[in-house]
Amino acid sequence: MAGNWKMYKTPAETKAFFDAFLQLVAEAKHCEIAICPPFVNIHAAVEASRGTRVGVGAQNLYWKNEGAFTGEVSGPMIKASGAAWVIIGHSERRQYFGETDATVLERTKAALAAGLKPIVCVGERLEEREAGRTDAVLAEQFNGGIAPLDADAFAKIVIAYEPVWAIGTGRTATPEMAADAHRVLRGLVSAKYGAVAGAAIRILYGGSVKPDNVKGLMAQPEIDGALVGGASLEAASFASIVNF
Ligand code: PGA
Repeated sequence: MAGNWKMYKTPAETKAFFDAFLQLVAEAKHCEIAICPPFVNIHAAVEASRGTRVGVGAQNLYWKNEGAFTGEVSGPMIKASGAAWVIIGHSERRQYFGETDATVLERTKAALAAGLKPIVCVGERLEEREAGRTDAVLAEQFNGGIAPLDADAFAKIVIAYEPVWAIGTGRTATPEMAADAHRVLRGLVSAKYGAVAGAAIRILYGGSVKPDNVKGLMAQPEIDGALVGGASLEAASFASIVNF
């Protein structure tokens, strides 16, 4: 269960979140938990979660380790800050910041080289779904951004299926729609990496996951967890998702 805070919260607000959240998930042993705040809050999140089961992640990274790349942050820097995870290829990065399947692949390789656990996002836009292209789009994103990884690298990633039309819109995919897309992705994984990898890959659903719809989504055997935006910003709300 991963929280994507997007561009929200200060370090002080991060600490306040953890003070409340950690108590609420103290008994949660059934899943891994990660919070992905903005870069400037990683330190506060790492300090606040030290010694707990809650991991911290970044929301992006650049694929060079260091250099004259103003405004960028590298995998080794994120790792040295104490984060364990990194979200890659989120649809907002694809939509607003020029992310492509090719750069998703570069970032994923760099994350793995730095010892970070990538959460690689894929998902179709509304017009693609309406044109009946969902499966084709997922295949394109998988083939371009993920499938070039070798099997050892692939075994270390998590995939997040996030239909773009469901992100931040309050319009969730039905559990069946999400499961269908997960099945397509798992089929692509099995075809490329084998049935064992297909069964083992963890696929998160993301897009307007809330305390009141998480149970139905998680009832689908295809859905292994959730990547949560808006509903991860408030401790009680994200805790009730974690404790679904
Ligand atoms: P949302 O965001 O839960 O606010 O829809 C999900 C995401 O973008 O990861």
